[in-house]
Amino acid sequence: MKVLVIGKGGREHSLCWRLNQSPTVWGLYCTGGSPGINQVAKPVDIAPDDFAGLVRFAAAEKIDLTIVGPEAPLAGGIVDQFERAGLTIFGPSQAAAQLESSKAFAKLVMREAGVPTADFATFDDADAARRYVKSLGRPCVVKADGLAMGKGVTVCASADAALAAVADAMETRRFGAAGARVVIEEMLRGEELSFFALCDGAGAVALGCAQDHKAVFDGDRGPNTGGMGAYTPVPRYGAEFEERVMHEVVRPTLTAMAARGNPFRGVMFAGLMVDGDRIKVLEYNVRFGDPECEALMMRFDGDLAETLLAIAQGRAREVAIRLSSRTAATVVLTAGGYPGDYARGTPIAGLERIDGVEPSEAKVRWAMEKTRVKVFHAGTATRDGALVTDGGRVLAVTALAEGLERAVTAAYEAAGMIRFDGMHYRRDVGARALGHMPA
Ligand code: AMP
Ligand code: GLY
Repeated sequence: MKVLVIGKGGREHSLCWRLNQSPTVWGLYCTGGSPGINQVAKPVDIAPDDFAGLVRFAAAEKIDLTIVGPEAPLAGGIVDQFERAGLTIFGPSQAAAQLESSKAFAKLVMREAGVPTADFATFDDADAARRYVKSLGRPCVVKADGLAMGKGVTVCASADAALAAVADAMETRRFGAAGARVVIEEMLRGEELSFFALCDGAGAVALGCAQDHKAVFDGDRGPNTGGMGAYTPVPRYGAEFEERVMHEVVRPTLTAMAARGNPFRGVMFAGLMVDGDRIKVLEYNVRFGDPECEALMMRFDGDLAETLLAIAQGRAREVAIRLSSRTAATVVLTAGGYPGDYARGTPIAGLERIDGVEPSEAKVRWAMEKTRVKVFHAGTATRDGALVTDGGRVLAVTALAEGLERAVTAAYEAAGMIRFDGMHYRRDVGARALGHMPA
């Protein structure tokens, strides 16, 4: 089949890399492309928000399956436009994508579905929001309703901080129209986990759990980012836990969405807060996580294209997910300054030491241990034939090995071979699960 991938970050590179290994794929295209993606897919020079152009391309090229990476085209209705043109596409409709694009909608669906989540209230009026904050008298979380590039959530230890967050979102409009409405909810404690299920509108199969590392600095300090590292599987959260999440979260959500007339197809990414025996949903996303996807794709066994095609065609029942029992760990290398301002165009050195033929002690050991290392390009470009940085998150260095300790060690060995000015990465990916840091 011929497959088109929308998006060009590390997540999409890992999808393209895995799709390129599908025996059934003989044509692979990716919007924008990147120096990494272009090694396995043909770049297509059409913007991800040019839906009419993408539909024309997919129809003319007889694309059998289109896979959408980022949330913005989904929230914009790309799936509706493809389906209207009779094209097969993996992802939720615009109405179903509201699970991510509107936090108020997501909370409403959780309530209808009986999915456990933090207590909350929704406000269109700043004064009413302030009265609510004052009446709470305990820490809370203020969330801009709409898409805010992952920055619309403020965890507030005090009422004063919450009042400031309300003013910021609703009056200063720091997140634009996304903050006109806010959700204010109870602050939860526990361990955060990313859970992924492939859904066909009526049924679903679990893809698995991953642990993200959101804060920019070690020890979960500093501002939140898109994600600085990930690993999968997550010790202590095995098959039994997955079945519980399918039962308590994914299936009830699917039922509620279908009852609303908005069946959910695509990846359901539930952001969970787990505290002892209790699982609560922090949020839904309607796409693969980044960098969780890079780690999951490293473990994915089987034909990814056939799997996603079956899901898109409503055949989840026929899908059996197989993941390697080994552990994948991803360490994200970022440009200095990210998630704030950062430079682009900085030369990157050392990748050939990992991907190329140059021998090294580490590579010999990886070969002996059957450890695999793959560097996914998140934000890179080519300038005058040389590889340069072209984003905040630059490379997602991923290793697959026997156990978390080996996977993390290999990912850090590979990261240590790469250099660019200002390069930053967290040194503690996996540390909590390895018992190197307090829970
Ligand atoms: P969200 O986009 O809703 O996942 O929020 C972003 C981050 O804010 C989450 O990954 C959590 O770290 C934090 N967060 C969101 N909601 C809550 C909550 N109710 N209690 C504690 N932390 C939260
Ligand atoms: N890594 C979290 C996300 O993709 O939203």
